[in-house]
Amino acid sequence: MRKPIIAGNWKMNGSRDSIKTLLDGIKAGMGDVKAAEVAVCAPYIYLPDVADQLKGTAVAWGGQNLSTEEKGAFTGEISASMLLDFSCKYVIVGHSERRTLYGEDDALVAKKFAVAHKAGLTPILCIGETLEEREKGITEEVCARQLKAVIDEVGIKTLGEGVIAYEPVWAIGTGKTASPEQAQDVHAFIRGMLAEHDQGVADGLRIQYGGSMNAGNAKELLAMADIDGGLIGGASLKAEDFLAICTAAD
Ligand code: 13P
Repeated sequence: MRKPIIAGNWKMNGSRDSIKTLLDGIKAGMGDVKAAEVAVCAPYIYLPDVADQLKGTAVAWGGQNLSTEEKGAFTGEISASMLLDFSCKYVIVGHSERRTLYGEDDALVAKKFAVAHKAGLTPILCIGETLEEREKGITEEVCARQLKAVIDEVGIKTLGEGVIAYEPVWAIGTGKTASPEQAQDVHAFIRGMLAEHDQGVADGLRIQYGGSMNAGNAKELLAMADIDGGLIGGASLKAEDFLAICTAAD
């Protein structure tokens, strides 16, 4: 049985005040969350606050990105050990915004996965097709290519110690969610690909869905056989909405 994981990706949102309010709300509602593991991925600069506020609670936290380098002259970068210094458990790698806006290619994302895992973080690997790619009918090809890059870099067993987030780019921040069937099809494809390498990894690895998941559509999506949680953007910024998604996993 895979334990569902609901993670908030706050992206570049929030302030010290708004984050305090958000986390107070999430903490107050966690008693109702039965099935899901819960995490939030915060902007780097707020991680000390987040760590202080979530210490000793059931909510884990993480970063949204990391450097492939350990230390040194890399202005503006943050290393895996720095994330660990603030007790991060997770780190998102290969989010589509990093891939498209900051030019992160498959090879770099695979390297980030490797570095994060080696340091002791649990990488959340984002994959997914653009609208153009979906319309061309190459969704599976794109997801397979993005996955293969990581499998080639770290091997299937190591991939199995992370989390995958299938995030169709056309569904991110658009209010246009993939239908449960559309999402399930791709999740099943991903699991099938994992199974070709290792059945145990395929059975155990959690695959989140991400892309306009909200309190209204979470239950249907999470009910699908191969959807093991969600990576939530906009709806993770309000405690009530985020908690509704967390309890939808029950
Ligand atoms: P939205 O939930 O805002 O569509 O964002 C999804 C996402 O990109 C999570 O990483």
